[in-house]
Amino acid sequence: MNVCDAIKQRRSVRAYQDKPVAPELLEKIFLQAQDSPSNCNTQPWHVVVVSGEARDKIEKAMISDIMAGKAPTPHFTPGDQGLKDEYRKRQIACAISLYDSMDIKYEEKQKRQELMVKNWQFFGAPHAAFFSMPKTMSEINAVDMGIYLQTIMLLLTENGLASCPQGALAMYTEAVHEMANIPEENAIMFGLSFGYAKEDAPINSFDVGREELSKTVEFLS
Ligand SMILES: Cc1cc2nc3c(=O)[nH]c(=O)nc-3n(C[C@H](O)[C@H](O)[C@H](O)COP(=O)(O)O)c2cc1C
Repeated sequence: MNVCDAIKQRRSVRAYQDKPVAPELLEKIFLQAQDSPSNCNTQPWHVVVVSGEARDKIEKAMISDIMAGKAPTPHFTPGDQGLKDEYRKRQIACAISLYDSMDIKYEEKQKRQELMVKNWQFFGAPHAAFFSMPKTMSEINAVDMGIYLQTIMLLLTENGLASCPQGALAMYTEAVHEMANIPEENAIMFGLSFGYAKEDAPINSFDVGREELSKTVEFLS
């Protein structure tokens, strides 16, 4: 698979087969991703991949915090806050595509909430990774984290795997910090659920599309 095909094929997948990924393949993918670039080669990413019992325990802890009505404790402002104009429009269009795929109307608040909760169940994926970087680092180091995330997602695609990046996994951080051994001085930025896609699941049936090139890129000469 070439890079262009991997970029085209990768999509956020929100339903998975109950089939774990071979540990050797996981290690190979994360080893290959070590070649991601970063500012001054600082490699700010710290990643914890959770599978099996560790994954299940973290899911249980996050869900129990949510059900107990605990306030989320994100370190960074979540990416869906305070959006305006075209950014807000795109956010809404993205949410509506997701609800439509599950036949949920906007007015059905409870169903929307149940759908949201799937985030903390890793959308049924057998594996999840938590990505953190030192709290003292800045936006430019967050760029490194994003590049690294895309590198991982493309490598997963190349190997027949699917994934969903999730800011939601940086919301209920207390239990995760402790159970996933995340260094005290680090902040979780996002998580990634991944595994083999359930191809025919309705929630995986939509494509949010992108803006026309001219709306986001200019070529000057
Ligand atoms: C940093 C980041 C955080 C995201 N957080 C979530 C999330 O919490 N839950 C979710 O379902 N999707 C999340 N997404 C997936 C986006 O909704 C998705 O990438 C976008 O709609 C484009 O769709 P595509 O990935 O299928 O191309 C996130 C994506 C990124 C890059």
